[in-house]
Amino acid sequence: MDTLKLGQLRIINFLAGLGGLAIGSRLRRWLQDPRKILAGADIAEGLTVVEVGCGPGFFTLDAAEMIGESGQLIAIEPLADFVETVKGKVKKAGLKNVKVLTRDALNTGLEDKSADLVLLFGVVPFPTLPLSKLLPEMCRILKTDGTLAVWLFPTTAGVPTAILNSGLFIQIGEKNGVYSYSLKGQSV
Ligand SMILES: C[S@@+](CC[C@H](N)C(=O)[O-])C[C@H]1O[C@@H](n2cnc3c(N)ncnc32)[C@H](O)[C@@H]1O
Repeated sequence: MDTLKLGQLRIINFLAGLGGLAIGSRLRRWLQDPRKILAGADIAEGLTVVEVGCGPGFFTLDAAEMIGESGQLIAIEPLADFVETVKGKVKKAGLKNVKVLTRDALNTGLEDKSADLVLLFGVVPFPTLPLSKLLPEMCRILKTDGTLAVWLFPTTAGVPTAILNSGLFIQIGEKNGVYSYSLKGQSV
């Protein structure tokens, strides 16, 4: 069964919802300041940002506020309940610069070279996000001067090495626990 079909199943949404209580909690905000982590990705006003696997939106509203009205945040998530939760939060916050899409990050359907910044925050490694398929899709949607920003929790689990070994990206920085990458052959 593909990820989007899984994301519609009641039992999967129920189980993920239990996890969502922790990953969307105030305690987590206190332990892991989302703005500090987002600053590690050099998120800035006016950027077009793709957030992969937004979950219940731990980073989403802060990211949207940090890019301002001139920016656009595209949050993608396959789980139906998380999508509805985040849409509700966005509406309540009155944010106009966020689209929450029910999508599989392995096949985003987004335009080629359309994103300034892709956030892989707390999503890899994950069984439904194999890097061998995820990285080429992120490569496709990033602008030539775009940045892939990866925040790994609770463990790096070899992800930085796997990204470099993909041959698609080179590392350009590491700040506040966020690893940043440019497309290979495009960095200055
Ligand atoms: C551990 S949660 C992290 C959520 C959020 N990024 C955070 O840090 O709070 C991983 C998220 O990735 C989503 N996810 C899993 N497979 C995905 C896929 N193929 N495409 C997009 N998102 C996916 C899950 O549904 C889940 O919401």
